[in-house]
Amino acid sequence: MSEKPAGQRPELADFWDQRFRSGTTPWEAGQAPRELREFALAYPPAAAGDQAAAAGSAPTHPPRVLIPGCGSAWDAAFLDRQGWETTALDFSAAAIETARATLGDAWRGRLLRADFFSFAAGTTYDLIYERAFLCALPRHLWPDYARRVAELLSAGGLLAGYFFFSGEPKGPPFGILPEQLAGLLAPHFVRRADRPVAESLPVFAGRERWQVWQRR
Ligand SMILES: C[S@@+](CC[C@H](N)C(=O)[O-])C[C@H]1O[C@@H](n2cnc3c(N)ncnc32)[C@H](O)[C@@H]1O
Repeated sequence: MSEKPAGQRPELADFWDQRFRSGTTPWEAGQAPRELREFALAYPPAAAGDQAAAAGSAPTHPPRVLIPGCGSAWDAAFLDRQGWETTALDFSAAAIETARATLGDAWRGRLLRADFFSFAAGTTYDLIYERAFLCALPRHLWPDYARRVAELLSAGGLLAGYFFFSGEPKGPPFGILPEQLAGLLAPHFVRRADRPVAESLPVFAGRERWQVWQRR
């Protein structure tokens, strides 16, 4: 059986390079979305803070956040401006070029061209911010995603962001079902928040929710 060309395989950087280079980026908000801004203002959320304190890991430093599949990095720019210790990562060279342009000279964080599944983190994070990354991954990679986010977070750390729910087989975006997401994350996480999203882009409208999952 012949394999699809690289530009048609979302598990490869070529797929995303082509989209960034042709400006076909319907997931781009061009600014930090509302729920992220609210979350950052209220961080750490009360329940999570209590839990983290109980686990002895309440952060005494600016939160260390990882943004996998950061794309153009609007959200990374926002979190960096909040004073958060931000690592933004993407395996697409074209994404990293656009991210550099977004971040400019004021950026104090780390911008890495690397594969989320294999980069050498050398640390754990207080927070992993999810937006349009899980749904960019072909479904066979989802169990690896769950294992990797669990491994990269400190005890009590948070996986927070936008999750795209749909039973539509085609993607990206590859939609997940609520019970599938729970099946992936529940072995390592407890869900702390789940709410609808106020202002979605057309590609996600009516099918995304803001969720926060806490590492056990
Ligand atoms: C749909 S885009 C979302 C970009 C960004 N999170 C946003 O919301 O604008 C998905 C991004 O994930 C990146 N990506 C996909 N698989 C990756 C992997 N294994 N490692 C690092 N980045 C990856 C792609 O290059 C692309 O920039």
